[in-house]
Amino acid sequence: MDQIHLSPGPLRGETLVPADKSITHRALLLGAIADGVSRVRNPLRSGDTLTTLDIIRKLGVDVTETDAGEWLVHGRGLHGLQEPEDVLDCRNSGTTARLLLGLLAGQPFFSALAGSPQLRKRPMGRVTEPLRQMGAQIVGRDEGRLLPLAVIGSPLHNIEYHLPVASAQVKSALLLASLYAWGLTVIKEPGPARDHTERMLGSMGAPITRKGPYITSEQPEGELTPLDITVPGDLSSAAFLLAAGAILPGSDIRIRAVGINPTRRGLLDALIAMGADVTLENGRESGGEPVGDLHIRYAQLRGITIGGDQIVTMIDELPIFAVIATQARGETIVRDAGELRVKETDRIATTVTELRKLGADIEERPDGFVVHGPTPLKGARVWSHGDHRLAMALAIAGLVAENATVVEESACAADSFPGFVETLQRLGARID
Ligand code: S3P
Repeated sequence: MDQIHLSPGPLRGETLVPADKSITHRALLLGAIADGVSRVRNPLRSGDTLTTLDIIRKLGVDVTETDAGEWLVHGRGLHGLQEPEDVLDCRNSGTTARLLLGLLAGQPFFSALAGSPQLRKRPMGRVTEPLRQMGAQIVGRDEGRLLPLAVIGSPLHNIEYHLPVASAQVKSALLLASLYAWGLTVIKEPGPARDHTERMLGSMGAPITRKGPYITSEQPEGELTPLDITVPGDLSSAAFLLAAGAILPGSDIRIRAVGINPTRRGLLDALIAMGADVTLENGRESGGEPVGDLHIRYAQLRGITIGGDQIVTMIDELPIFAVIATQARGETIVRDAGELRVKETDRIATTVTELRKLGADIEERPDGFVVHGPTPLKGARVWSHGDHRLAMALAIAGLVAENATVVEESACAADSFPGFVETLQRLGARID
């Protein structure tokens, strides 16, 4: 059955975590339009990234695997993608759908994008609206705000667009479209959304610049140089182990080779502010991204308030942050996080509902939540709602709760963290 049973106990040892999901998606999509073969070492093979892989193959891009497990993406150049014969199924992956809309809008062919019932509920207007302002023709239900969507590839022109919400997916879609648009595209972002697309495009020779909150991009004069990257461990996956280390008495975990890009490290900053015993070791740079080893040991935490620009830098970590907060002394407040309501699930509502079942003192707010701690959680039967990050957050809560916890519909963890249960077990967790 699709469920896991957890018993309380600390985690100890050293581990790697799966490769970064955001960087793997981008390596595939950007590699697809590079002029030659991109080498992607340590790619993430998860539900979401394999979805992007299937789709670029349908666009005529060959992807092969070396004996060392690297992906070779045989890029077709900026103008070499082929019209797909069938609908492109983005399954559960919002990053795939949104970045792809930007890539396909300016192609000289027709394409159609579909998604799972979960993805069909998520807002696409935030991408289709500015793309239309660039000349894109995208049609679908609810005036093109929901999947499925048809893209009638069209000539594009530049825009100056002020993002209404800090979103790396929207920013990246527009940057991809700008590679096919006449004139200089200017994007202003209201907060520091992850910048992997900008870093990778820059390394490929694309004319992209940043000045404060403004990013400018335009069509390259020639072709894009292929990528040669080693994908770091995903801090958003490491987050679950960091949480376990921080709140399970007796824990001591070292997580090697994790990406610590400043636009992603909000959870680390929050843990430090809460008094966690976390250190960065062996800091280095790899493939244009900062990387390091993270060492965390149990310590009593105190509650904090987070909001403003910090939210976007830990947006995917907020469900697990809520679990951490249940074990911190005092009040923890999360505000300015309304974006959580349009993730794989309404993560404010689902996190609050499920953590309450374990006895957490957590209140829902329109733009976040408030937690009072520390609370001794009590084992219960909880449900992931089909949301990978909630499944994993609840599993960690199950390791801190007294008696047994059952997480229902937990297999979705593999959307971003294949081998999640095995990784926990290797560190000593009691799960079956
Ligand atoms: C992502 C951006 C974020 C994040 C998602 C991955 C990306 O979404 O929540 O998991 O790879 O660009 P938004 O851009 O919608 O905030």
